This record gives sequence, structure tokens and C-alpha cells, in this order.
Amino acid sequence: MSSPQQKVLEMMARSHRSTLELVQTLLDVYRNDAEGLQLQLAPINLVSLAEEVTATLIDLAATRRVYVSLNYDSSDFRSFLWVKGDALQLRRVLTNLLINGINHSPRGGKVEIVLEFDSGCGVVKILDRGQGITSDELPHLFDRFYQGHSNRQATGSGLGLYLSRQIIEAHGGTIWAENRSPLGALFGFRLPGSGVGEF
Ligand SMILES: Nc1ncnc2c1ncn2[C@@H]1O[C@H](COP(=O)(O)OP(=O)(O)O)[C@@H](O)[C@H]1O
Ligand SMILES: [Mg+2]
Repeated sequence: MSSPQQKVLEMMARSHRSTLELVQTLLDVYRNDAEGLQLQLAPINLVSLAEEVTATLIDLAATRRVYVSLNYDSSDFRSFLWVKGDALQLRRVLTNLLINGINHSPRGGKVEIVLEFDSGCGVVKILDRGQGITSDELPHLFDRFYQGHSNRQATGSGLGLYLSRQIIEAHGGTIWAENRSPLGALFGFRLPGSGVGEF
């Protein structure tokens, strides 16, 4: 049973957590710019990473009535989707991109995570069926504090994509955004040094 008092306390706890997260992100972004990002590198399986992150966002997706699916080529593909990366940092990137995808989806919408292996690189794409990105937003998405006018949630800090870019570039990778046809956005990143033979 949850009393009105309990509900208020839960709401306060949630708001406190998100304030702490925001401060943490802000500190990380400035530290990364000032000192560079120190990565703790280890072999990372992108399939496991995507499964982990998806599991942590199940409640958010359910509340928004958004379906999240994970797709990759074939069952034994799992063994080829290895990259050398920092699990904690890559988890943050995937979490940011997925939350954005969920937040920009209509009710009943679908967010797809697609994993690919392409010329020695591990590629992760997050596809949604939201309103997509306007041409004037596109060049600024990965800038510090940038928030587009299309942002349906009045919340957020405009730091998620900036931090994600810092992390992917520290890995020697690239991150990008494009529109989908007929609608929706695709956010992707590409990490070098994939393949089982690397380790
Ligand atoms: N999936 C998406 N579809 C459309 N626009 C997006 C999507 N993800 C991000 N954006 C745009 O990029 C901006 C920056 O994103 P982000 O750095 O994560 O900041 P925040 O989520 O705090 O607004 C958002 O304000 C929004 O305008
Ligand atoms: Mg965001």
C-alpha cells in the first residue's frame, strides 16, 4: 500500500537522484574536456552490453508504451561483436541514445537497436520512429548544452549527446545522426578494433 506521504517521498527521492545524475554528468563533461577521458579498456561484447542496457530501461519503455528490440545478423554473430572498450562509459552512451529514442517515440512506437560488424568495426545503431531531426538541428546535436526545439520533454540538459561524443571519440570511434525515411531518427556509433581475433 502506498500512502500520499509515501508517494511524495518517492517523488522527492526520484528528483534528488536525477539532480545528482545531472551534477555528475556536468562534472564528467568538464573533466573530460579539461583532462581527457581515462578509459578502462577491456574486451566488451556489444550484444551483452546492449542486452544489459535494454534491461535497465524496461520500466521507462513500458511507461511510455514503447517497444525496444535488439537485432543482429545471426545467432553465432555474438562471437564477432567484440570491441576493446570501457564498459561503464559505453553503457552510458547506449543508455543516453536509448533514452533519447524512447523519449522521442510516440506511444506504441518502436525503438530498434541494430548491431553490425562492418570492415573491422563494431557498429551500433538506435532507430526510432519519432519526429526525426530538422536540418537546422542536425549540425548542432552533439554540441555542449544543445537542446533542439523538437525536444518534447521539457527536461534534460543537452549534455547526453555531447558526453556520448566525448566517450566514443576517446575510443577512437565516430558517432553520428541521420533521419530515417519516411520518419524517425537514427543515432549510430562505430568502434574500431572489433573481431574475436583481436584478443
Ligand atoms: N531520437 C531523437 N530524435 C529527435 N531528436 C533527438 C533525438 N535524440 C536527441 N535529439 C535532439 O538532440 C538534442 C540533444 O540531445 P541530448 O544531448 O541527449 O540532450 P537532452 O536529451 O538533454 O535534450 C535534444 O534536445 C533533441 O532536440
Ligand atoms: Mg538526452
